[in-house]
Amino acid sequence: MKTFVTGGTGFLGSHLVDLLLAEGHEVTCLVRPTSNLQWLKNKPVRLVQGDLLPNNAGLREGLKNADWCFHSAGVISSTNPQTYFQVNVGGTRHCLDACLKSAPKLQRFVMVSSIAACGPAVNGQSLNEQTAPHPISIYGQSKLEAEKIAISYNTRLPVSVIRPPAIYGPRDTMIFPVFKMAQRGFFVVPFGRPRYITMAYVEDVAAACLWAAKEKKALGQIFFVADGDLYSWQDVADTLASVFYRKVAKISMPKTVMWSVALLEELRCKWIRKEPRLHRGHVKQFFASSWGIQTDKIRQAGFTPKFNLEAGMQATVAGYRQLGWL
Ligand SMILES: NC(=O)c1ccc[n+]([C@@H]2O[C@H](COP(=O)([O-])OP(=O)(O)OC[C@H]3O[C@@H](n4cnc5c(N)ncnc54)[C@H](OP(=O)(O)O)[C@@H]3O)[C@@H](O)[C@H]2O)c1
Repeated sequence: MKTFVTGGTGFLGSHLVDLLLAEGHEVTCLVRPTSNLQWLKNKPVRLVQGDLLPNNAGLREGLKNADWCFHSAGVISSTNPQTYFQVNVGGTRHCLDACLKSAPKLQRFVMVSSIAACGPAVNGQSLNEQTAPHPISIYGQSKLEAEKIAISYNTRLPVSVIRPPAIYGPRDTMIFPVFKMAQRGFFVVPFGRPRYITMAYVEDVAAACLWAAKEKKALGQIFFVADGDLYSWQDVADTLASVFYRKVAKISMPKTVMWSVALLEELRCKWIRKEPRLHRGHVKQFFASSWGIQTDKIRQAGFTPKFNLEAGMQATVAGYRQLGWL
């Protein structure tokens, strides 16, 4: 298949590219002049220069006669609210418009959304695809808006949407500090009652994207994808302890302390003109009661993830070690 990937230089997108190549598909990636090409180096991938921002010929060029478009590019951390909307919302629309113009035989447009588009679980009820979205972050609002736009093209384009929770795996730099902390023997958990999250190993999310491109039942549908279990942060710490074969001390962090650290990080990054790794939006998400989701819909439609948390974390640590990061 002729495939076009946005975000192929990023964490999830690069794993998706590897999967597509392993299955023998032709891969074209949208890259920017500033993109770091480290994960695409020496791979049989056609690179097309462009951007998701308006009036960009790169998108149309890259999508020429594509069979599948995987739209993984997005901004996941920014202090500038406008950036989320420009890239995540505007970029999704530009990508869809470019599909209409350049890919008349497109068989699937797979948009990578996020659990953040739906918001945390309410009243102890896990989220499912019927839950009314109630994003608590600007990032989540932008992903929800982008989903709505993607689904609105459904009469003209075959669209599917995948909503992962926190994705972890080798090459990721967002959750990496958590692995580093655990390797050193400590782990930060939210102070007070346990908070719950769901997680997905990156290869499972990439496989879910590919599954959605192939599966008729995925047409016009939104799916949550995760390993299917609910974890407290304490569970995550215990799993890392067993993966690193060491004791990991759990440090309870009060919300106000983390909030202040995030604020300082935002100010520091504003000063050096960098996007912060930790901002106040993350703190809000970290202290939400539960991000539990039901994955029945995607399982019943035929997709089963391969990695539970222990297996995924083992693979992640092995991957980071191979990269020399741990
Ligand atoms: N990581 C998670 O835990 C997680 C969880 C749920 C959903 N998601 C979603 O999964 C997708 C991939 O996330 P990720 O973790 O792989 O993020 P990432 O590593 O930060 O990669 C983001 C990608 O988007 C590209 N991009 C950003 N702005 C762009 C623009 N204006 N034009 C063209 N490309 C642009 C980046 O290209 P450059 O290399 O040029 O910067 C990069 O390839 C996103 O849509 C995100 O919302 C992620």
